[in-house]
Amino acid sequence: MNKLLLSLTVNGEAREVAFSPHKTLLEVLREDLGLTGTKHGCELGECGACAVLVDGRPVLSCLTLALECEGAAVETVEGLREDARLHPLQACFADVGGSQCGYCTPGMLVTAKALLEEKPAPSRDEIKEALSGNLCRCTGYLQIFEAVERAAAIGRGEAAGEDRRD
Ligand code: FES
Ligand code: FES
Repeated sequence: MNKLLLSLTVNGEAREVAFSPHKTLLEVLREDLGLTGTKHGCELGECGACAVLVDGRPVLSCLTLALECEGAAVETVEGLREDARLHPLQACFADVGGSQCGYCTPGMLVTAKALLEEKPAPSRDEIKEALSGNLCRCTGYLQIFEAVERAAAIGRGEAAGEDRRD
């Protein structure tokens, strides 16, 4: 099958990638761009493991054709850290046990990032609502909600974040 050329921005970097036009964004990210942080779960739109941000909004990359992303800005979990420093969400997930096996974590992190950019002080219910499409088999969710609340407080300057290097 002939390949098409896709131009998009991935984690702030302009990229061009040749891809088979039937591929999903998830497949192009993992297989053609080598960004395997985004996880392949149900491929049915039910688990949220494949969530990435497209133009700042969380999307399920398993249900998004790469073709639809021409010119878009895509952000994956690999783009969260700033230089070698963990994003506050990453540090808080690690600190409070919000990530255990880690399979759901990339999708949780990018979805939570979009939430905090829209609502710097979300309520617990707003966090639950925002993450309701992201399934976790390990944590029972409470540590995840707590991690998002802590990261939000750090983002507002109400709590100190450690300078965590990865
Ligand atoms: S892999 Fe996309 S929602 Fe499960
Ligand atoms: S930490 Fe294992 S699925 Fe969420």
